Amino acid sequence: MRVLGIETSCDETAAAVVDGDGRILSNVVLSQLDEHRPYGGVVPEIAARAHIDHLDGLIARAVEEAGVGFAELDGVAVTAGPGLIGGVMVGLMTAKAIASAHRLPFLAVNHLEAHALAARMTDGVAFPYLLLLVSGGHCQLLVVEGVGRFRRLGTTIDDALGEAFDKTAKLLGLGYPGGPAVEAAARSGDPARFDLPRPLIGRDDCHFSFSGLKTAVRREVEKLGEPSDRDKADLCAGFQAAAGDVLADRSRRAMRRFRELTGRDGGTLVVSGGVAANAYLRQRLAALCAAEEFALVCPPPALCTDNGAMIAWAGVERLKLGLVDSLDAPARARWPLDPDAPPAAGAGVKA
Ligand code: KG4
Ligand code: ZN
Repeated sequence: MRVLGIETSCDETAAAVVDGDGRILSNVVLSQLDEHRPYGGVVPEIAARAHIDHLDGLIARAVEEAGVGFAELDGVAVTAGPGLIGGVMVGLMTAKAIASAHRLPFLAVNHLEAHALAARMTDGVAFPYLLLLVSGGHCQLLVVEGVGRFRRLGTTIDDALGEAFDKTAKLLGLGYPGGPAVEAAARSGDPARFDLPRPLIGRDDCHFSFSGLKTAVRREVEKLGEPSDRDKADLCAGFQAAAGDVLADRSRRAMRRFRELTGRDGGTLVVSGGVAANAYLRQRLAALCAAEEFALVCPPPALCTDNGAMIAWAGVERLKLGLVDSLDAPARARWPLDPDAPPAAGAGVKA
């Protein structure tokens, strides 16, 4: 089985071919960082136009590098949401055209499900497992029970963690994207110098909140006036330590819920999304897992950030179960993994 996967929901244009055993035959990613950098964030209209410019060539490369022709594919999978709607439509229409022209099964993939299932492609993780999804747009804890079967334990009531990293970097003039810049600056910083908040820690649920932490960083920056490199390093280290405390506390709660729900003593914590590339946070979660007797699985960074291979793999999983979609599948700006999850108290539109 070979499935072509296409991803255009944010600022990465990506295409890949993955086989039924999770072997990545090709994986081509084109980042639009340079196009968006002058604006300090992703501009939806620019993203959609860049996807149009590059997608055809990228797909041709992915298929060629995989050493197959379109006729030898067994399905076409594409992100149908959630994401920036213009970009999602570009990928979706292209995938439908390919599936239609070559009479291939069509798979409309939820981008979040693709992040969730990537650990089965890389590490063969068995259901059920606990998932911490931390990206620029999402911050959620979920029980992954099966393909298309998720139980959301917690979500952010305001900002996603990646967003908080990006905003902190912007406040400190560290450039875009913020996550890697904050991580680098934090390496030489003193995490104890600034007293930053740990929002929602100790609360008896699994939700997150990061806007208070971001505001606290802003206040410190205002107090400092012109922060020196030392100030910046200390603030980044403080911010990252606070984020680590929050992730560890919320994940510990989620492990408790996971044990209650599954009747198991331990389990596996999968961490995915762009923020999972952060070595300090990975190390904090590794310590938590060791203490709680959970196995920790972090797919390699290139498969944690947006890519086509995870979309192709989600397509493989769905195709194996016969979960094929029709060519009128809609593009969806919002598409929760667990539509039945109760809303988080105080949650804004992103939850
Ligand atoms: O999953 P992703 O590539 O895109 C989506 O948001 O779906 O995640 C991008 C986010 C950005 O906010 C970026 O700043 C963050 O992941 N990120 C990091 C690191 N690398 C990327 N955050 C913290 N530390 C990092 N090393
Ligand atoms: Zn993503």
